[in-house]
Amino acid sequence: MATMHNRRRPQRKKNYAQQARPALSMDNEFHMAGGETENSYSNNSRLQRKALLNTKPVLRKAVSDLCTGAFNKTLVIGDLGCSSGPNTFIFVSEVIDTMRGRPLELQFFLNDLPGNDFNHIFRSFVQFKESITEEHKGETLPPFYIAGLPGSYYTRLFPCQSVHLFHSSYCLHWRSAVPDGLDVTATVYLNKGNIYIEKSTPLSVVKLYQEQFQNDFSHFLKLRHEELVCGGQMVLTFLGRKKEDVYKGDLNHLCGLLARSIRSLVDKALVEEKKLDAFNLPVYGPSLDEVKTVVKQSELFDINHIKLFESNWDPYDDTGGDVAEHSIKVA
Ligand SMILES: C[S@@+](CC[C@H](N)C(=O)[O-])C[C@H]1O[C@@H](n2cnc3c(N)ncnc32)[C@H](O)[C@@H]1O
Repeated sequence: MATMHNRRRPQRKKNYAQQARPALSMDNEFHMAGGETENSYSNNSRLQRKALLNTKPVLRKAVSDLCTGAFNKTLVIGDLGCSSGPNTFIFVSEVIDTMRGRPLELQFFLNDLPGNDFNHIFRSFVQFKESITEEHKGETLPPFYIAGLPGSYYTRLFPCQSVHLFHSSYCLHWRSAVPDGLDVTATVYLNKGNIYIEKSTPLSVVKLYQEQFQNDFSHFLKLRHEELVCGGQMVLTFLGRKKEDVYKGDLNHLCGLLARSIRSLVDKALVEEKKLDAFNLPVYGPSLDEVKTVVKQSELFDINHIKLFESNWDPYDDTGGDVAEHSIKVA
């Protein structure tokens, strides 16, 4: 995870908001399973919950640092990739709790792709408001307001210099699109039999994934830098890789298992081989150094704190993971 604050705004000629970007393939089709059924994200997000709980102290510190800044009475806060379910409100309640007793109002914008189950969030809001008020009975909570904000965080989401705090948990390993040359329309299959980077993935494909990460992440930083007020903060947590070796990360291992399952369906003639050959996931788990390099090259943010932490793949096992193949690394 990393917290950063934005540097003083340099004089820029380019307006990134108006720069042409290729159409994003994730925008209309991608979403977590909505609702509250057995298979919904809401009921299957305990791993992600562990990351939120792990990063609470860092979030509290970033929020407290904000309070020492000379901001006006309303703090604008964006949660990028909020999804729907109990996790969405963990972040919100943590910020409200940290702001207890301060003469401020809080405006939260909960962002996700348009296919996200925003209705579920809106329906849960009344219950959340009641439970946080009950939890803090007798205390003065800051007034808070919540709005849904559909759209990709790889596009501009807010007016210039209007946001004080950005948060994103368990999202930024998702790329804006499958790298060019690896999408389902490609006529030559460059990563046959795999869905991400595996042992048999050629280095040329690894490079495509790395470039996609570098372009996406640097674009994300530019957009957020435009939207943040001077002295604003960002707390970002996402899946990464412990080792520099790009073939050896937990995301590789997990996607490898998934690809193996699909291969077994191909062997049983239940899935066409070319469908597997044409399919690649739009994800990338960077190493700590890869993250630091992009932030440094952007010259837009200073990293206050960056840490790699591990947690057990078993959602119901809260012990830290120390075996690489069974744990998640979050940069
Ligand atoms: C694993 S969920 C994490 C949700 C939540 N933050 C949590 O901690 O449980 C990842 C979320 O990121 C969202 N996401 C992925 N790419 C996105 C993008 N480009 N813009 C906005 N949201 C995105 C997905 O739709 C999904 O809801």
